[in-house]
Amino acid sequence: MTQFDNALFAQLRDVIAEKKSLQNPLIEVLRQAQEIFGYLPIEVQEFIAAEMNIPASKIYGVVTFYNFFSMKPRGKHMLNVCTGTACYVKGAPKVIQMLSEELGIKMGETTKDGLFTMSAVRCVGACSLAPVFVIGEDTFGRVEKKDQLKAIFAKYKA
Ligand code: FES
Repeated sequence: MTQFDNALFAQLRDVIAEKKSLQNPLIEVLRQAQEIFGYLPIEVQEFIAAEMNIPASKIYGVVTFYNFFSMKPRGKHMLNVCTGTACYVKGAPKVIQMLSEELGIKMGETTKDGLFTMSAVRCVGACSLAPVFVIGEDTFGRVEKKDQLKAIFAKYKA
C-alpha cells in the first residue's frame, strides 16, 4: 500500500518514458521525481529501479551521493547556509546557531510548519557579502541579529 497518489507514479512513469532515450537519464529522472514527490523515499527509488531496469542499490547510491537529493520530506523553502571558507571565517557558525535558535531546527532538519529545511552548502559566489545564506533565489548577507531574521522569515511566512 503506497502513501502516495497513484497519479504521481503515473506522472513519474511518463517522465521515465520521455527521458529513457537520454544517454544518462538517471539523474534527470531522479531530479524530476523529487519535484513530483517532494523527496525520494525508498518506495519511489524502487519504482524507478523497476521501471528503468536498474538495481535499486545503484539508485540509492546516487541519491545519497548528491546533496541535492533528499530521502526525507523537505520544507517549502530550502534555507542554504554557505559554509565556504569566506563565510566560515566571517561567522557562518554563528549564523547557523542564530538560524537554529530562531527556527527551532538543526542542520538538515525541517521546521514543524513545513516551511524551511536548513542545509549547508559550499561557496554560493557571494563572498563579498559573507557570511551568507540563501532562501530560494534570495541571498542574504551579513545578517548579525535575530531581529533581522524575524523580518526575513516574515516574508516567507506571509
Ligand atoms: S564562501 Fe560563502 S559565498 Fe563564498
